[in-house]
Amino acid sequence: MTSALSSSSSWRSCRRFLVDKSSSTRLLSPALSSSSAPSHARSRRPLPLYPAAFSTSTSPLDDDDDVDESSASTAAAAAAFRNAVLARHSAKVFDATRPVSDETVSTILGLTLRSPTSFNVQPYTITIVQSKEMKQRLAACMLGPNKARVLQAPLTAVFAADLDPVQLVPRVQTMERQERGLPEAYLATLPFSVSFFAGKGHLAHAFKDLFTTAMSPLQPMPSVSTLEAWSFKNTAIAASWFMMACSAHGLDTCPMEGFDGRRIMQVLRIPSPRYAIPLVVSTGYEMPLPPPPAAAAAAAAAAGKGGPKKSPRFPPEAVVFRDAYGKPYKGIPVL
Ligand SMILES: Cc1cc2nc3c(=O)[nH]c(=O)nc-3n(C[C@H](O)[C@H](O)[C@H](O)COP(=O)(O)O)c2cc1C
Repeated sequence: MTSALSSSSSWRSCRRFLVDKSSSTRLLSPALSSSSAPSHARSRRPLPLYPAAFSTSTSPLDDDDDVDESSASTAAAAAAFRNAVLARHSAKVFDATRPVSDETVSTILGLTLRSPTSFNVQPYTITIVQSKEMKQRLAACMLGPNKARVLQAPLTAVFAADLDPVQLVPRVQTMERQERGLPEAYLATLPFSVSFFAGKGHLAHAFKDLFTTAMSPLQPMPSVSTLEAWSFKNTAIAASWFMMACSAHGLDTCPMEGFDGRRIMQVLRIPSPRYAIPLVVSTGYEMPLPPPPAAAAAAAAAAGKGGPKKSPRFPPEAVVFRDAYGKPYKGIPVL
């Protein structure tokens, strides 16, 4: 009852906020464009690239590097990124004898934490499971072959999505005020914005959905997803950054949803019902597959199927469109 009341009162605030045109502009394009934002926040100029993260250079680019150097560095970063993307695949068997250094894990986690989140709310936690005892306890929560992956991999990252992100708002306001100097007008709207997109309560959600759908023909209104979808979306982006950072550092990963999340929360003491677990990522070095028997290898080579197979993807034209759904975007390479 208390939560329904607080949801409906925050809904009332949201409604006032949404129908006010100037506020709604703030909601949809947070105040980075405001003239009171610091210059680096206003600028459309990209922040300098740090090719060292991709092992192509030891020093970050200076702001005043000339165009040639920056484009060479961009090409190197693009090539490194391409390699990292193409090297990533879901490893099915990990080499239990190859550890990953703490330094590498920390660097990867530092990069992961740079992933974007809605209103910079950062509604997720990551628990890294490394000790033998905790790996065994986590493995017991996994389904089927995922158990073995947790046991073999030197570490497994458990991503938990925050299902009460409104609680994070005061911390975000303080941080954004002190470290980024965002304008007070924007910071004041944050509790309404976050509770609009990610407030608790099915009833409040139904009202928001009804209201925005009714208003949509008159003016653009935000699409309202469920709290879980909102939080999982933010957390999955972070998990994706984690996997790419691992790949860039020569590590293999296996993202997994085959687990009993309730048991994992208990084992890792992740507060319930505050969080839910969208994804668990085992991480380490893949065990090289034993070479196929000679006859099978010869047959595969004769059929033009030698070497490890990439996971297939739908043809680009079935997935990517230009200007409107169904109009193929031509020229996308199949990688
Ligand atoms: C959300 C999600 C859940 C997944 N769950 C599992 C899983 O439980 N076990 C597993 O072995 N692989 C799992 N995978 C890996 C997929 O099977 C794999 O990504 C897909 O087959 C494409 O292969 P690739 O990752 O090698 O490109 C999952 C991947 C994603 C993104």
